[in-house]
Amino acid sequence: MDIRQASNKNKYNVVSSIYDIVAFILSLGQAKKLYREVAARLRVPTGATVVELGCGPGSVVPSLLHKLDPSSQIIGIDFSDQMIELANTHKSKNGWNNVNFECMDMYQYSPVNKADCVIFCLSLTAIPNYQKAIDKALSILKPDGQLLILDSIPLKGKWYYPLANLYTHFKALIVGAKPATGITEYIDKKTKIQEKHIMVGGVYTLLDTKI
Ligand SMILES: C[S@@+](CC[C@H](N)C(=O)[O-])C[C@H]1O[C@@H](n2cnc3c(N)ncnc32)[C@H](O)[C@@H]1O
Repeated sequence: MDIRQASNKNKYNVVSSIYDIVAFILSLGQAKKLYREVAARLRVPTGATVVELGCGPGSVVPSLLHKLDPSSQIIGIDFSDQMIELANTHKSKNGWNNVNFECMDMYQYSPVNKADCVIFCLSLTAIPNYQKAIDKALSILKPDGQLLILDSIPLKGKWYYPLANLYTHFKALIVGAKPATGITEYIDKKTKIQEKHIMVGGVYTLLDTKI
């Protein structure tokens, strides 16, 4: 694990208990809406396996459960033990019987059965080397599987995008993320982008892709 990842892990451990409040503020009050948008794009069969890499305290899980059939399962992976502890508290409080959280570096995750969908929800730019992280996600997907990415990716093309990019970089300083312009091009090279959905004035991009 590189030094930035180690310090990120400590940072996420420290903020875990107030993570949802921080996410609400930094997303300009749009966090829940963003989670619903991610869930709305799920295209998986009955009994699907959905893996979320960098799941934090499981904030997107309620929206995913709302969309998935009860025979599906969600696996949340996060390397912060405090985040996973909180996620497990939410699991027992809400009776999420088909959800399992595992505390590990996402690079160590090697499931026996491949996933129908892998999600990076606000986590890809928190992981150094987005190419390696995307390759890992693709390696655990079934053929025809879906990769969903929601993150703050600097954009070009509209007059107000520089403002959105400024806010993205400001937010990244606080959370220790690294917004990279190359994410979309890399995804485009590796998968088929089905939809690129820009939200919150360009601060967030949702990439819905298929391998
Ligand atoms: C901004 S939070 C996103 C949490 C949640 N997915 C959400 O939508 O609110 C990013 C999470 O990624 C996790 N993370 C960063 N690098 C990781 C890695 N290499 N392996 C596993 N988790 C990682 C952090 O611990 C943190 O909980």
